[in-house]
Amino acid sequence: MLNVDQIDVYYGNIHALKGVSLEVNQGEIVTLIGANGAGKSTLLKSISGLLKPKQGAISYMGNPIGGKPAQTIVKQGISHVPEGRRVFANMTVEENLELGAFLRKDGDGIRSDFEKVYELFPRLLERRKQLSGTLSGGEQQMLAMGRALMARPKLLLLDEPSMGLAPLLVKTIFKIIQEINKDGTTILLVEQNAHMALSIASRAYVIETGRVVLSGTPEELNASDQIKMAYLGGH
Ligand SMILES: Nc1ncnc2c1ncn2[C@@H]1O[C@H](COP(=O)(O)OP(=O)(O)O)[C@@H](O)[C@H]1O
Ligand SMILES: [Mg+2]
Repeated sequence: MLNVDQIDVYYGNIHALKGVSLEVNQGEIVTLIGANGAGKSTLLKSISGLLKPKQGAISYMGNPIGGKPAQTIVKQGISHVPEGRRVFANMTVEENLELGAFLRKDGDGIRSDFEKVYELFPRLLERRKQLSGTLSGGEQQMLAMGRALMARPKLLLLDEPSMGLAPLLVKTIFKIIQEINKDGTTILLVEQNAHMALSIASRAYVIETGRVVLSGTPEELNASDQIKMAYLGGH
């Protein structure tokens, strides 16, 4: 479904991604783990069109998308929930969700997706008239995910959805990620919480200082001493 082939991405002189390749097959939950500053967000931004690779190629459903504008990529079915949620604080929950559908014209589809999002996140239904800036961190994460789903993506990019959330909420968010996947959305999940991410993933990639250093099934990664030491607390 998604094929990232040997991309190099720079911020000025900073070489943030060095020949990174990765693939995501339809129906999978693929997780990308790595320390702070490894290049995880940079990779998601390159896929969603916020950054342009200097070299290499990205294709989606067989079509090249590398360097295309972000709007074009959303229209083709890839939505990105950025790190730190970024909801519009002065707009209500409902208005934020509406914005997620702004490229669509199928009124009936939009209405049914509102219902789906409210089913997935009952908390958002209760708070639909509330200003988003007054939501808790967990609720803002739900809203950011709900807003992305309003574009009816086939591939959802999630950047550290559990960041800063209490353990119980982290569990809830991971459960919802699995539900979204069961409903037919493929997922590329960036996480620092390697334990949790590996527990729901079909496959995983480990990225260190701009390079993919390891990939495999969760079983393979869990068995790797290198991964245990670096990401799983040595257990
Ligand atoms: N806007 C930016 N300008 C310059 N350097 C950046 C910018 N964003 C990220 N970087 C650098 O690129 C590298 C990868 O960052 P990032 O993709 O955010 O890592 P991660 O998401 O894995 O924590 C880091 O060295 C970071 O300092
Ligand atoms: Mg990041």
